[in-house]
Amino acid sequence: MAQLWGGRFTKETDKLVYAFNASIGFDQKFFHEDVAGSRAHVKMLCKQGILTEDERDAILAGLDGIEADVDSGKLAITEEYEDVHSFVEANLIDRIGDAGKKLHTGRSRNDQVALDMRLYTRGQVQELDGLLKNLLETILRVMEENTDTIMPGFTHLQKAQPITLAHHMGAYFEMFKRDRLRLHDIYERMNYCPLGSGALAGTTYPLDRDYTAAELGFYGPTDNSMDGVSDRDYLIEFLSAMSTVMMHLSRFSEEVIIWNSNEYRFVEIDDAYSTGSSIMPQKKNPDIAELVRGKTGRVYGALMSLLTTMKGIPLAYNKDMQEDKELAFDAMDTTKGCVALFTGMLATMKFNKQVMADSARHGFTNATDAADYLVNHGVPFRDAHGIIGQIVLHCIERGIAIDDMSLDELQGFSDKFDVDIYEAISMETCVNKRLTTGAPGHDAMLEEIKKCHTYLDK
Ligand code: ARG
Repeated sequence: MAQLWGGRFTKETDKLVYAFNASIGFDQKFFHEDVAGSRAHVKMLCKQGILTEDERDAILAGLDGIEADVDSGKLAITEEYEDVHSFVEANLIDRIGDAGKKLHTGRSRNDQVALDMRLYTRGQVQELDGLLKNLLETILRVMEENTDTIMPGFTHLQKAQPITLAHHMGAYFEMFKRDRLRLHDIYERMNYCPLGSGALAGTTYPLDRDYTAAELGFYGPTDNSMDGVSDRDYLIEFLSAMSTVMMHLSRFSEEVIIWNSNEYRFVEIDDAYSTGSSIMPQKKNPDIAELVRGKTGRVYGALMSLLTTMKGIPLAYNKDMQEDKELAFDAMDTTKGCVALFTGMLATMKFNKQVMADSARHGFTNATDAADYLVNHGVPFRDAHGIIGQIVLHCIERGIAIDDMSLDELQGFSDKFDVDIYEAISMETCVNKRLTTGAPGHDAMLEEIKKCHTYLDK
C-alpha cells in the first residue's frame, strides 16, 4: 500500500478501508492530465526560484519517462497506489530520488485533483463537440438529399400535415446545434485553472498562478482558492448538457425505431447497425437505436448522483467529491459512444421515399389544405372544417384518399369545388405552399439549409 501521508499514523490502514478509500481504479483515466499539471507546476516553481533548474530538469525528465513507460505498457498503473497522484509521485521518487520529493511543493491533492478533473473534462467537452459536429454534417447531408421527399408530419403520433424528410431532419439539426452551443458556454465558464489553490487557503510560497494557468491553456486562475478546490459546477453543467444530448438522441432513436417497424417501413437500418434474433429468423432489430434510448437513463443518473453528492458538502474539499468521477466518466463515454454510433447508423440508413409519400397521401394530411381551399372560395373556416370532416369520413368508409374522389363526388359536399382542387391538395402543393420561415416548402427549406451551412462553416 503506497500512501503519501503515513507520517502521522501509527497503525496500518485496514485493507477494506484502503480499498474503499482508493481511487486508482478510476482516476488513472486522467493520468496524462496529472502529468501535464505536474509539468506546469514544476516549471513555475523553478521560475519562481523555489526549485533549481537542475531539480526542474530532473523532475521533467522523470515525468517524461513515467509517461513514456505507461504509454508503451512497460509500467502498469496498479492498485498498489491509492490514487493516480500517488502513483506518479512514488514512481518519480523511485526514478530520480530526492528531487522527486519536491514535486508537491506548494500543492495539495485538493487543487491537483480539481485541476486534473477540469483538464480531463475540458478535453471531453471538446471531443463531444467534434462528434456532434459530425452528426450535424450527416443530418445536413440527409436534409440536402431530401428537400423533395414528402412524408407525413405527426402530432400525437397521428398523421397531421405533409412535410419533407429534410424538414424533419432540420428539427434535429437545431437541437444538436443548441447542444453544441451549450458546450461552448460551458467551456467558456470552466476554463479557469484551480491549481495554486492549495488545500483550500492558497499557499505561502510565491506561486505564479497566471503562469501555470497559461501553460495549461486556461484563460486565467480561479479567483477564490476555496471555490477552486470545491467547485464541481462545470461538471454538473456538462452532465446536464450531456443529458440533453441524450434526450435528443433518444427521441430521434424512438422515431427510427417506429420508422423501421414492419408497419411503417419508412426506413431500413443498414445490416451493420441492426441485429437478428436467436429464434426468429425474419428479425432485423433496431438494437442500436434501442440501446441509445436505453442508455439515456444512465446519463441522467450521473447528473442526479452528482447533484445529490454536492448538495450537503460544506466548504471546502471533502472526500465525498471523489464520487464526482466514476459516473461522470461513464456518462462521458456513454454519450460520446451514442453520438458516434447514431451518426453511423443515420449515415447508412435507407429512406423508403415512396412508402413515406404514400403514407402522407393516405393519411388525410391534406385535409387542412382542402379546408383552406374552401375558405379561399368564400366558405367560412368553421363550415369548411365541417365539410372536409364529412369528406374524410366518406373516404375512410371507402378506403380512399380525398384526391381519389371525382369532382362530382366532391361537389356533392360543396358546390365550391372545381377542377383546381386536385392541384390545390396535391402533396407537393401542400408542402411547397408552406413558405414561412422555418416551414417545409422547398424555397423556405433551401434558406434553412443555407443557414445550417453558414453555422457549420463558422
Ligand atoms: N482521490 C481524491 C479525489 O478524487 C484526491 C484528492 C484527495 N484529497 C484528500 N484531501 N484526501 O477527490
